[in-house]
Amino acid sequence: MHIHETRTQVAIVGAGPAGLTLSHLLAAQGIDSVVVEIRERHEIEGTIRAGILEQGTVDLLSGSGIDTRVHTEGARHDGIELRFDGRGHRIDFARHVGRSVWLYPQHEVLKDLIATRVRDGADLRFGVSDVVVDGVGGTEPEVAFTDRDGTRTRLRCDVVAGCDGSAGVSRNAFPDGTAQDHFRTYPFGWFGILAEAPPSAPELIYTHSERGFALISSRTPTVQRMYFQCDPREDPADWSDARIWDELQARVAGEDGFSLKEGRIFQRGVIPMRSYVRTPMRHGRLLLAGDAAHTVPPTGAKGLNLAMADVQVLARTLTDFFGSGDEGTLDTYGPTALRRVWRAQHFSYWMTSMLHTDPAGSDFDLNRQRGELDSVTSSAAGSTYLAEAYTGWPLSL
Ligand code: PHB
Repeated sequence: MHIHETRTQVAIVGAGPAGLTLSHLLAAQGIDSVVVEIRERHEIEGTIRAGILEQGTVDLLSGSGIDTRVHTEGARHDGIELRFDGRGHRIDFARHVGRSVWLYPQHEVLKDLIATRVRDGADLRFGVSDVVVDGVGGTEPEVAFTDRDGTRTRLRCDVVAGCDGSAGVSRNAFPDGTAQDHFRTYPFGWFGILAEAPPSAPELIYTHSERGFALISSRTPTVQRMYFQCDPREDPADWSDARIWDELQARVAGEDGFSLKEGRIFQRGVIPMRSYVRTPMRHGRLLLAGDAAHTVPPTGAKGLNLAMADVQVLARTLTDFFGSGDEGTLDTYGPTALRRVWRAQHFSYWMTSMLHTDPAGSDFDLNRQRGELDSVTSSAAGSTYLAEAYTGWPLSL
């Protein structure tokens, strides 16, 4: 078989938020990259994922030359509501920390990133298969893959950036015994829906109830995103629209008479919840970023934002590396990125455990959770911690 050979400085595996942003930031420093991706462009642009961007993520998108529509299409949110005991309790981000978040779906971020990279003449290879990451223990690693038309390509490079998510191949290119995987699973999942309906509230609502957690989010003025805690093995096909609405309404119901605006449900699925970190985030010339290196449960809205923070650190590290040729500069990436990662792990775990009901939990646990929610919402210190973590720690962490 004929094998096509090519070369770049940084081979980026994965065209998600991490990979695309990294290639953009590197290009701004005059560093060449090729991005390889197993999915097609339209699949990436059509997959519904996260919705919340930290202020720092918005600053990165709008301040680095990415052609983003976040300011015209996104919505600034200055707080969230924590709902429990049938009442809402607002956490005012603007008041406590003077920062905000933006509701702007991940697939819109991806459309912006791809359009910007295409505008700038980037080498993006969508729809490739049989991706193999090799030689990362030496100084001449490579990424091999088969193009859509069947051509096998060996992409030689100086560094491989593994940005291919939790199911990607990069993570598995670490030789046995060179890394540790830190896990936590949760005894529940999220049942997620998209519905044709007007918004039920101006800000996101995170609800704790005896029946379990629910999250009321939004996508557009006519499309709403909602989730409720479920058994991780729940089959979405077992749920009629009426049953889904009854469950969601029961979880948000309360003395204030609040209820959700209902509509046709046109997408549904169950999302598993887990916490995961790979340490170190690097082996030799392979550096992991985003979900390839860590997963958070979605309760803290940190996944996409962590990926964006990782690649900012990684872009700086690689700029130093190509500038100095000093292998030692690569050592700085993981420890710097991991500091934020573990803070976010703690925050996501904390939000998850505070808001969900443990199927094996007791009456004590439920009341203790109410005490915790009461402490957080009635204390400036508690609310400020939540606001600070939710809106995101500064990049200089
Ligand atoms: C969403 O809108 O999909 C969303 C928002 C906040 C979260 C998780 C998901 O914490």
